Amino acid sequence: GLPPSADADAPVHKTILLGDSGVGKTSLLVQFDTGRFQSGNFSATVGIGFTNKVVSVDNTRVKLQIWDTAGQERFRSVTHAYYRDAHALLLLYDVTNKLSFDNTRAWLGEIREYAQDDVVIMLLGNKADCGGERVVRKEDGERLAREYNVAFMETSAKTGLNVELAFMAVARELKCRQ
Ligand code: GTP
Ligand code: MG
Repeated sequence: GLPPSADADAPVHKTILLGDSGVGKTSLLVQFDTGRFQSGNFSATVGIGFTNKVVSVDNTRVKLQIWDTAGQERFRSVTHAYYRDAHALLLLYDVTNKLSFDNTRAWLGEIREYAQDDVVIMLLGNKADCGGERVVRKEDGERLAREYNVAFMETSAKTGLNVELAFMAVARELKCRQ
């Protein structure tokens, strides 16, 4: 790869994970960052924090600063302040939770209201490993994504399905614009 100093001035792309509480935002970021999945008791994120990741796209280093937000309603007003200078948004729903899918329309509305017009948006149907409990079909996710003209993938923070691919797709799009 490139020497560490080669991209010292490369821009940092602020990327924010959004979506209802429990859809798997923290789990997705942990899977991407460490390759691990922590099963067991769900502990909702309180507040907001970020993880820096550098990925390689066509031999160019792309710097992502990935913000993990709290999905719970009472933290929303805090989160809104972060939309404005975001370069990319990953909006998650849970394929086993219909309400989380229906709520993505409200999330997309908030995005239109608070984020920049040219923000990169990717819709992710997470928990794709939960075959038996699935209530949202892949086609439903695809149709919604087409309607809002955003990219779409199904992911699993548990098995790692498409996790790297989703972040790489975002990084690729951001690199094209940098
Ligand atoms: P908030 O922080 O409240 O906004 O929630 P969150 O979106 O960060 O959800 P979190 O990552 O904490 O995951 C919620 C629960 O779902 C946890 O018990 C996870 O273990 C589980 N979970 C997350 N992603 C997956 C997945 O892809 N598959 C399965 N089977 N479980 C998952
Ligand atoms: Mg969380």
